[in-house]
Amino acid sequence: MASSSGIIATLFLVLALHSSWVLLSFASRNVYIVYMGERQHEEPDLVSESHHEILSNVFGSKEAAKQSILYSYKHGFSGFAAVLTQSQAKLIADIPGVVHVIPNRVLNLHTTRSWNFLQVNSHISNGILSRSQSGAGSIIGIMDTGIWPESVSFRDDGMGDVPSRWRGICQEGEKFNRSHCNRKIIGARWYIKGYEAEFGNLNTSDGFEFRSPRDAGGHGTHTASTAAGASIENASFMGLAAGLARGGAPSARLAVYKVCWATGGCSSADLLAAFDDAIFDGVDVLSASLGSPPPLPSYVEDVVSIGSFHAVAKGISVICSAGNSGSYPQTVINSAPWIFTVAASTIDRAFPTVITLGNNQTVVGQALYTGMDTNKFYPLVYGGDIASIDADEGSAGNCDSGTLNDTLASGKVILCFQSRTQRLAITAIRTVMKVRGAGLIFAQFPSKDVSLTSGSLPCVQVDFAIGTYLLTYMGATRNPVVKFNPTKTQVGQQISPEVAFFSSRGPNSLSPSILKPDITAPGVNILASWSPARSLSQSPDTFQIESGTSMSCPHISGIVALLKAIYPTWSPAAIKSALVTTASLDDEYAQSIVAEGAPHKQADPFDYGGGHVDPNKAISPGLIYDIESSDYIHFLCSMGYNNTAISLVAGTKITCQKSTKFIVNLNLPSITIHELKQSMTISRRVTNVGPVNSVYFARVQAPAGVSVKVKPSVLSFNSTVKKLEFKVIFCSLLRVQGRFSFGNLFWEDGLHVVRIPLVVRTVLDDLYAVT
Ligand SMILES: *[C@@H]1O[C@H](CO)[C@@H](O)[C@H](O)[C@H]1NC(C)=O
Ligand SMILES: *[C@@H]1O[C@H](CO)[C@@H](O)[C@H](O)[C@H]1NC(C)=O
Ligand SMILES: *[C@@H]1O[C@H](CO)[C@@H](O)[C@H](O)[C@H]1NC(C)=O
Ligand SMILES: *[C@@H]1O[C@H](CO)[C@@H](O)[C@H](O)[C@H]1NC(C)=O
Ligand SMILES: *[C@@H]1O[C@H](CO)[C@@H](O)[C@H](O)[C@H]1NC(C)=O
Ligand SMILES: *[C@@H]1O[C@H](CO)[C@@H](O)[C@H](O)[C@H]1NC(C)=O
Ligand SMILES: *[C@@H]1O[C@H](CO)[C@@H](O)[C@H](O)[C@H]1NC(C)=O
Repeated sequence: MASSSGIIATLFLVLALHSSWVLLSFASRNVYIVYMGERQHEEPDLVSESHHEILSNVFGSKEAAKQSILYSYKHGFSGFAAVLTQSQAKLIADIPGVVHVIPNRVLNLHTTRSWNFLQVNSHISNGILSRSQSGAGSIIGIMDTGIWPESVSFRDDGMGDVPSRWRGICQEGEKFNRSHCNRKIIGARWYIKGYEAEFGNLNTSDGFEFRSPRDAGGHGTHTASTAAGASIENASFMGLAAGLARGGAPSARLAVYKVCWATGGCSSADLLAAFDDAIFDGVDVLSASLGSPPPLPSYVEDVVSIGSFHAVAKGISVICSAGNSGSYPQTVINSAPWIFTVAASTIDRAFPTVITLGNNQTVVGQALYTGMDTNKFYPLVYGGDIASIDADEGSAGNCDSGTLNDTLASGKVILCFQSRTQRLAITAIRTVMKVRGAGLIFAQFPSKDVSLTSGSLPCVQVDFAIGTYLLTYMGATRNPVVKFNPTKTQVGQQISPEVAFFSSRGPNSLSPSILKPDITAPGVNILASWSPARSLSQSPDTFQIESGTSMSCPHISGIVALLKAIYPTWSPAAIKSALVTTASLDDEYAQSIVAEGAPHKQADPFDYGGGHVDPNKAISPGLIYDIESSDYIHFLCSMGYNNTAISLVAGTKITCQKSTKFIVNLNLPSITIHELKQSMTISRRVTNVGPVNSVYFARVQAPAGVSVKVKPSVLSFNSTVKKLEFKVIFCSLLRVQGRFSFGNLFWEDGLHVVRIPLVVRTVLDDLYAVT
């Protein structure tokens, strides 16, 4: 049998000649991930050998096996990625020791909404920073598009030696050699085999991508600088949002795992290899602002879930973005209970931009417009009035792609309205740029997320009311004109935080009893470093403003690195608990946090989990809800995965008890009952990490329609009693098919308030009973 890489190469050659035949053959060979659970040997070489043996048997030759294998996963867990036919994949799936054979998937980065980014530091006060020495000693692994090592955020001035426990490497490649690592960027690796086996060889001769850890897209540079960038004075995006920029843990180290490519997407086979290496290298925290949209694969078939399971089992916290598919419900991803899943919210910074009309009246929108010719009026037209011949007026009114007549649009400011089918300002910007419009006013439902244009085309976002007012003005004027005034940066005059409309929402579509997201953090209009790869200057102080759960995720990663520096022995679950139970439900005016979206409403746990992160409070959580790896194994049992598979995942023989009770009893800092029939008793266990002799009293805010009792309602800790269990008894007061309602359980000792959210939906026992 010919080698697989040979076949792929041949296929590209033959493509032009026999395209139909090629498509058939091409479809028959794909990248598969063979996941085999916990390692069976301590020695990585032996683990690898077992993978080659399996492949040799399947291919009938050692040589062919060698050609087909892309990765052997042998440090954090066991498995491999290889190019296989479907029947070979089926054959391997039946081999004892194989948990699952998973087709390679393409995952996406979580910043599709706008392109830029801005730095927050107001929520990280000196408390946690000084106690953790700014995270010195912590190592944060970033799985993203790589890094721009020259960026000012990655200077290592004043940093001590690389921790001796570090085992990672600085992998060289295009425009990246060992000298690009320093005491800040202590490791860098890149992964492309899965990507290239799927999409063909990456051609980097145009300089838009680098076969190395160097970041061409920019995303990885600012997630890294958000998590652990050094302090930079006078950072700004074209003068906007100017001030001190710094990462959450400015003294933490960075380990870069480039798994995503600027040309599009991240291959799951590559991502799993990065998890495997990161576990070996010795990171403390892993940050992944990526994922694939629903439907969610099971927890033993999703690579983010698999990789993070093994990382967490080894004490590494894994932080992931919740996704940008809000504000629709059930859109949250990266929802395994061992992952720390982060929603996105606004900060107190805004970018008001005044539009002056020809009649001297003014309206205010928002933009990132630094003003090319701020004194010039431009003709204003409505997109729907300048539709091209083959487009309908409606889609032209939304500035959908290719809908505008370029003769009529050229040199004018175009007014467009967001619609269900055309939600994105960025699409409108591209449409208007194509017809050489002078600018864009995009009317949309109120949102704080500013799309940006990097200066090429001014775009001001306004709400529907202002958009409608502009239409009225245009109807009443023969020659409507507008002028854009330069954007101002306004700080402290916005009520914040608010959950961003794009932030993906619960409930968790894979296991509704596991509350997701876990927490929210700043993710709207965030300033951080950016790759200058596509600009001529290649300036090391390039900053950009960007929004997405991609941006909120590294905020939590930085904060986790700080906590880890203070409490090196705490488990990932303990650190998550400390942050979730101390999170805030109120904005800075002590009013309940609201959630953007339709409808605008008071935020609930499906928007923000435990609430908005409050890092300084997390230093002293009082009690924690801890979870051990064996608890997660019981959870997997309850999810219905089979004994053999779970034994492989765990690395020891497991006999699952057939009970679904463990799902609700997993010791999370939240309780979610998605179907409460009459009553249900839930157990939880808390560990005292505060003063040794402490007495805590329970207080409950019961969800509507439910009675809640806590037994015992007093918990006394002393030097011998550090952990205590309690039960929470829920009784439905309704006999209706209910909807979700929300409450809280507090444990209070006069010093600490340890709060977890309660989420309950009452259902009728016999709603679907056959009568
Ligand atoms: C359980 O999983 C193993 C390994 O994936 C598989 O070989 C076996 O057939 C499965 N058993 C059942 C009962 O599904
Ligand atoms: C590494 O790259 C830098 C900058 O591109 C260059 O100055 C240096 O000579 C290179 N070092 C080696 C060992 O190749
Ligand atoms: C790569 O792209 C360049 C220009 O974009 C082209 O000239 C070159 O032939 C390409 N190389 C390969 C191997 O496809
Ligand atoms: C920051 O900018 C201000 C005003 O331009 C200047 O006075 C100051 O020296 C700058 N600080 C640094 C550290 O560059
Ligand atoms: C607008 O204001 C300017 C100066 O404030 C004035 O010169 C001009 O006449 C005004 N135009 C109209 C249409 O009111
Ligand atoms: C654009 O508008 C001009 C002027 O009204 C018209 O002549 C032309 O046919 C239009 N083109 C398209 C593609 O709609
Ligand atoms: C701690 O409390 C337990 C239970 O209340 C009690 O049995 C034990 O003696 C106490 N230990 C100390 C050292 O006071």
